[in-house]
Amino acid sequence: SQLTELPAKVFLVGMPGCGKSTVGKELAQRLQCTFLDLDTLIEEQEGLAVPQVFEQRGQEYFRQAEAQALRLAAARSERLVLATGGGAPCFCENMGFMVSQGATVYLKLTPAELVARLTPSDLQGRPLLRDKTPDELLVYLADTLRQREPFYQQASLVVAAGGRDVPTVAQQIEQCL
Ligand code: S3P
Repeated sequence: SQLTELPAKVFLVGMPGCGKSTVGKELAQRLQCTFLDLDTLIEEQEGLAVPQVFEQRGQEYFRQAEAQALRLAAARSERLVLATGGGAPCFCENMGFMVSQGATVYLKLTPAELVARLTPSDLQGRPLLRDKTPDELLVYLADTLRQREPFYQQASLVVAAGGRDVPTVAQQIEQCL
């Protein structure tokens, strides 16, 4: 029972492993709108899996493809929830762009909470995280979070997602939109 109109675009941002895709799917279901995953859109656009884009074309290329896929998704006419890659807000003025296009939600977790959530198969699919020992992973996530937080914090809604289940977090976001 919304008194005001829902935003047409909802962008989820945050570190790898924070739950953007799982929370995003649940939120889209609640809002009865389309769910999109930016990494999947990049894979469709490039015809390659994300780790292969990094390996074969490099991170610089990946960031350009990401910025392009983001703008194409935002230009769609339908209402949608978009889960973005962890680095997306920090390149190509993407964060300002998302803020200008709809609601932005930062799913905030501590580095320790992120490590606890990332499974071995999650790590395999993430070129910037794979091949790290647990200690190295914690240090990498802490350093990266410190660099990225100024971007994430520009979100219109910051949600502490640690230790809470997916339906609870999605419900809280829905109530704040
Ligand atoms: C990245 C996060 C990934 C993916 C790419 C780069 C990053 O998305 O976009 O591997 O820079 O943190 P997730 O946040 O879904 O892991």
